[in-house]
Amino acid sequence: FLVDKGNYRHFMAKEIAEQPEVIGHTLAHYVDMAKGRVKLADNLPFDFKSLDRIAISACGTAYYAGLVARYWFERYARIPVDIDVASEFRYREPPLNSNGLALVISQSGETADTLASLRHCMESGMKAAAIVNVPSSTIAREADAVFPTLAGPEIGVASTKALSCQLTVLACLAIAAGRARGVLTEQEERKLITALIELPRLIVDVLKIEHQIEGMAKSFSKAKDVLYLGRGTSYPVALEGALKLKEISYIHAEGYAAGELKHGPIALVDETVPVVVIAPHDHLFEKTVSNMQEVAARGGKIILITDERGAAEAEGVGEVLVVPASNPFVAPMVCLVPVQLIAYHTAVFMGTDVDQPRNLAKSVTVE
Ligand code: G6P
Repeated sequence: FLVDKGNYRHFMAKEIAEQPEVIGHTLAHYVDMAKGRVKLADNLPFDFKSLDRIAISACGTAYYAGLVARYWFERYARIPVDIDVASEFRYREPPLNSNGLALVISQSGETADTLASLRHCMESGMKAAAIVNVPSSTIAREADAVFPTLAGPEIGVASTKALSCQLTVLACLAIAAGRARGVLTEQEERKLITALIELPRLIVDVLKIEHQIEGMAKSFSKAKDVLYLGRGTSYPVALEGALKLKEISYIHAEGYAAGELKHGPIALVDETVPVVVIAPHDHLFEKTVSNMQEVAARGGKIILITDERGAAEAEGVGEVLVVPASNPFVAPMVCLVPVQLIAYHTAVFMGTDVDQPRNLAKSVTVE
């Protein structure tokens, strides 16, 4: 059906702005709000309780959803997670067994590498679940279980709202797994659910700093290289920030685990290199700040994405983008929005074709 841009200049802008709403729709599908519990179908073809691992494969932005989910499944449900990009997963011949669950993530449900990975796992006797945005897609039809993201049609080639919804579904699955495996107490489960339910409102607040980010576009547009750093679940956010910037502004960017900085990328840092640091005030904050100081000492231009507490402690480091404080569980979803907006406004400033960037396709059906 027909989708239009409404009052937005690009589909990407519209899709970024829609995130509070589509996360809300997705949550309504997976959470029993009255009971404060995740609700999944009773007849799932697998049982979280008896799984000995989850093997995730996906491509591009959907792969980063999987990277965040690995932290969640391991921490909140104590399930070992194996993850790789779909084009590598199959060919590295991982030992698969029928006590494991294959999990593929795809907006379109048509990505050839992801589909091949799904088929490979199913042929090896694993049950396979798919998180997809297009319910009529090939991946949705072939998987044993389908968990829809309710993002609505995503038109911008660079994925935004689909990722937020993939993360929402994965968060719900991690909670359900944690409960099934007796890792989360009822009280802990309720806390995580509360954090998820508050998310749409928090993202509405994050969107209010859009103007500040727009003002930074000019300086980003002059950069030849941009680094993005984060630890824990902020690390995949750093990877996604770098990918978004590359995709639509064509500026070279790299996402790195903040602790790896000293093992290579610090050699790139000088006064011409913006370094975006994603560091909500969590148990890893101090460590990330010390990596950030290594950047500052070499004259790198720091852009810190953090909450108020983080901003107070890191005063004077450079430009700070303050996002609302949240439960660390959902912080990657809060911090995702500013990195999307940095890419978007930089690309708009540079005059590139934001919704249809060169050389890229919305769905890639060749391996
Ligand atoms: C393409 C798109 C990306 C997307 C990736 C995976 O490369 O340009 O935005 O993340 O495919 O797509 P999927 O539909 O499987 O999520």
